[in-house]
Amino acid sequence: MSDLPHFPPGFVFGAATASYQIEGAVHEDGRGPSIWDTYSHTPGRVDGGHTGDVACDHYHRYPEDVALLRDLGVDSYRFSIAWPRIQPTGSGPANPKGLDFYSRLVDELLEAGIEPAATLYHWDLPQALEDQGGWRVRETAERFGEYAEIVAGHLADRVPRWITLNEPWCSAFLGYSVGRHAPGAREGTPALAAAHHLLVGHGLAMRALRAADVREAGITLNLDRNVPATDTPADRAAVLRADTQHNLVWTEPLLAGRYPASEQDTWGELITRQDFRRDGDLELIGRPLDFLGVNYYRPIMVADAPYREPDPAQRVATDNRYQETGYPDVRRTAMNWPVVPESFTDLLTALKDTYGDALPPIHITENGTAEHDVVAPDGAVHDPDRTAYLHSHLSALRAAMDAGVDVRGYYLWSLLDNFEWALGYAKRFGIVRVDYDTQQRTPKDSYHWYRQLIAAHRD
Ligand code: NOJ
Repeated sequence: MSDLPHFPPGFVFGAATASYQIEGAVHEDGRGPSIWDTYSHTPGRVDGGHTGDVACDHYHRYPEDVALLRDLGVDSYRFSIAWPRIQPTGSGPANPKGLDFYSRLVDELLEAGIEPAATLYHWDLPQALEDQGGWRVRETAERFGEYAEIVAGHLADRVPRWITLNEPWCSAFLGYSVGRHAPGAREGTPALAAAHHLLVGHGLAMRALRAADVREAGITLNLDRNVPATDTPADRAAVLRADTQHNLVWTEPLLAGRYPASEQDTWGELITRQDFRRDGDLELIGRPLDFLGVNYYRPIMVADAPYREPDPAQRVATDNRYQETGYPDVRRTAMNWPVVPESFTDLLTALKDTYGDALPPIHITENGTAEHDVVAPDGAVHDPDRTAYLHSHLSALRAAMDAGVDVRGYYLWSLLDNFEWALGYAKRFGIVRVDYDTQQRTPKDSYHWYRQLIAAHRD
């Protein structure tokens, strides 16, 4: 382990999961349906017809999962709270049994010496709110602020780190434009309204978290590292359009108090109809963050492409004047994602170059990989590709810190194999294997490797 990167004292090592991906127990203790229940039960939406009905049965097995975290030696565990467990229809009084589940989980973590880090929204919107317009309408942001107030009111004293939204890009664009995530819509301006309302919801949740006096609050973004295929003006312009709809749509309002200057070129008439924006929204959205959560997996090489006329009925909000290309010679993960750790360094240093002092400290709230795991005859899972991925990405992270980026923690995705959204259970991101027939957990070699890394950091 001598070539392992060293991290400064106090650096937080963690692992992450999310409610719908691991909990199961979708009908228990008063939980209402979410858009992911509806989506996964709609034939043809999720590969293999998989659903989160049982998932890793974490709702019942959380003590065993916390024991795995304790043995791993992590400082912190990032989990998400299922809104429909707290408010089954997304509004009104809290469901005590839902709150109680997270309260028990938090106590179990604290007893194990692990700091809880809670995400308020990891995509499981109550279906009743979707039926009233979902994130297309501003009322959903207001409901989200109320939900944040309820949860913070019960857990703020025991949960030091809070994340309002996880990867709002996926909620807005995969959910309402590409249709590859719940609720599966393919729309134009309404998807842009959804992006804005997610940001407004974030601002209202930040207000609730501050009022509850939490120690730290922030948001998690999946920022893309878009790399031009060639140094031509056309490819560089394509990168700007890709950056606009993946990164700038979030970072500009959150960190610079403005909407992206390049949005008109990217979205044309779709963004011209922007009556969903109101005076005062930028102030609300731009409230100071204690940290920015960044999820990183892979870079995207971008080449210019001619405009492709969409189905006239569906002028979606995803600009198609570029295409993904490149990286022919690098290894690809089971997700077919290219493994390019240097891009992780570049993403972080570029963020620092762009926003300077306006960039808050960073937590890497997700990083990890799905690989083609095999159970060996002795029952072990030897996953050298995952370990190599983690090693190279932690080194790349350290390089960004050496270059002056203030990174405070790293949460590995994921503790457990789990429900990988539209791809179902076929993709395994865990450092612990889950046998979905027996619910047996088997720590993989990468789990033992991460454990040693954390132990070496403590020495
Ligand atoms: C990001 C998401 O937050 C998480 O839910 C997902 O499983 C991982 N990426 C891997 O795709």
